[in-house]
Amino acid sequence: SEKAVGIDAMEIHTGTLRLDLAETYAPAKDDDPGKYTKGLGLFASSFPDVYEDIVTMGANAARRLLERRGLTPADIGRIDVATESSFDNSKPVSTYIAGCLEQVYDEDFHHANKGERKFACISGTQSLDDAYNWIRAGRNRGRKALVVATDTALYERGDPGEATQGAGAVAMLISEDPDLVELSTAQGYGSADETDFLKPNQQFPSVDGKRSVQVYLARMREALMDYESVAGDTHPDDFALVPFHTPFPGMVRKAALLGFRHVARDTEYEDRLAEEIGRQPRREAFDDVGAFQDALSEYTDALAETDVYRDWYAETVEPTLELSRYCGNWYTGSVHVARASGLLEAAEAGRDLAGARLLVGSYGSGAQAEIHHETIQPGWADSIRALAVKDRLRDRYDLSFEEYERIHDAHNHEKETDVDALTTPDGEFVFDGWGRMGERK
Ligand code: CAA
Repeated sequence: SEKAVGIDAMEIHTGTLRLDLAETYAPAKDDDPGKYTKGLGLFASSFPDVYEDIVTMGANAARRLLERRGLTPADIGRIDVATESSFDNSKPVSTYIAGCLEQVYDEDFHHANKGERKFACISGTQSLDDAYNWIRAGRNRGRKALVVATDTALYERGDPGEATQGAGAVAMLISEDPDLVELSTAQGYGSADETDFLKPNQQFPSVDGKRSVQVYLARMREALMDYESVAGDTHPDDFALVPFHTPFPGMVRKAALLGFRHVARDTEYEDRLAEEIGRQPRREAFDDVGAFQDALSEYTDALAETDVYRDWYAETVEPTLELSRYCGNWYTGSVHVARASGLLEAAEAGRDLAGARLLVGSYGSGAQAEIHHETIQPGWADSIRALAVKDRLRDRYDLSFEEYERIHDAHNHEKETDVDALTTPDGEFVFDGWGRMGERK
């Protein structure tokens, strides 16, 4: 029989600073806080202090993961880093992270394959795929893969994307017989050459925000249909949780509604919905482009207000958004934060999910969406409860708006700044100038 391969355990490192969108950001911008808390669904974002960057955040997450699982470099055959905040066009960020980790161990990662993956936010999932394929192909010699998704998702000040910023890293251990989730072989893609979000030789993105939302929805729709062509038609009850790439929770709220409308067609849900709305069920398939455009119609709006939909959403989607509401967009890490969030909330609520499925939707601008499912493993609750992410988010330093502007400048490559740190690192890897990167403090 085929080997079960998937995510054995994960760790999350958040930037140590916090910007409150309702209390601090909205008043400074003279905006109604509801635009952020209700419209985008965001309350706060994570920020890196001056001694944090993609390397140190990734290394800190990876180190905690290896320590928690009692692993050393010899156990790891592969380190892939997914990022869209890279600073080196030649040497992969994984070599910098390995260099940090080697300060902690007597061994090095001499015989591990290291790489860096880029395709906007979807590259974290692509790295997961690479690790999965490497293990399934039997090339891993019993070793595990380390995947690190790390980003400082900063926008130019004044850009509409500014409110969705974030910074953090997710480290995942991929292995045979995983404790957390097994990945499916079935997967679907939707991909097209797009210019909704890009950074050609520039630090901060050029974004067509409104268009990016439409491209996200269109590529996800194609990926879902491609997935169904392999896995068979889906039903709303097939999945315990639906973690999707979360640039901001409001984006997933839109995607979930359209996705639900598609998967609920020709199921008993359709009749329950029709009864609640008080009109005939709509049975158009998603692949009819007209029907997709129509999906943004009054019928879909009415559907969003039904108890049938709200109950489904509260159980399968809402838990995946909890962490994101307080940390913002972490680009490559975002869908993995959503998975962790959903599983953490489920574990805290005492849900028994062993054997249940997740439908995971990843997206990268430029643009590509990918959908696969994951089967939750018997050891999932302990594996996910070991994450101290909520404590770490709570312990962040709360920025004033003036401090936020200074810290944003400190991370701006075009500005010469000399900004003092606002927090003190505690036994972590810190960025302390080129050449001394990843020193432990
Ligand atoms: N109370 C309640 N809701 C309010 C409100 C208030 N006082 N004020 C505004 N809103 C609502 C709006 O109605 C809107 O909701 P709908 O979309 O449902 O209509 C929502 O809040 C946002 O308001 P605006 O559309 O006016 O906000 P904006 O234009 O300033 O910015 C954005 C929105 C364009 C998405 C911007 O945040 C952006 O550019 N973000 C970066 C790009 C991005 O994240 N795109 C997502 C898809 S691409 C992707 O996923 C890749 C990635 O990670 C970047």
